[in-house]
Amino acid sequence: MRVTFRVNGKSATVDVPGDTPLLWVLRDVLDLKGTKYGCGIGECSACLVHLDGDPAHACMTSISSVEGSDVVTIEGLSPDGDHPLQRAWEELDVPQCGYCQAGQIMAAAALLKDHPHPTDADIDHAMDGNLCRCLTYGRIREAIHRAAGAGGGQ
Ligand code: FES
Ligand code: FES
Repeated sequence: MRVTFRVNGKSATVDVPGDTPLLWVLRDVLDLKGTKYGCGIGECSACLVHLDGDPAHACMTSISSVEGSDVVTIEGLSPDGDHPLQRAWEELDVPQCGYCQAGQIMAAAALLKDHPHPTDADIDHAMDGNLCRCLTYGRIREAIHRAAGAGGGQ
């Protein structure tokens, strides 16, 4: 099945079975390896991307459903990796092993878009589905507050 959609602002056309998860297309066809595979069943959010502006699990999204859509991955969040969230993540040394962090940042970016100055409760609610086996949750929350203070939601 041929599917055309936009990824990080550029048009992409792929020819794969329609039930192929978007995650495999991003990683194996388009070579965008920042988005990670964790559970494959929508339970960890390692694979979180933005689909038409909303957070979406790429592992649970069939490629046939993204025809004409706009997908943003961690590689497209900012031109030079300098989104306020990415700067805050670096300044506060948030990642440990790093595996979950692309999904964490994409979830945080979606949060700041809707809540430019989130409370702790807003953060906990929005980030609830993003698991981190290294337990970096405290630093993630701090980094989101720092990015919000730097205009990360604008
Ligand atoms: S890999 Fe998609 S939610 Fe875990
Ligand atoms: S930093 Fe290791 S899983 Fe989150």
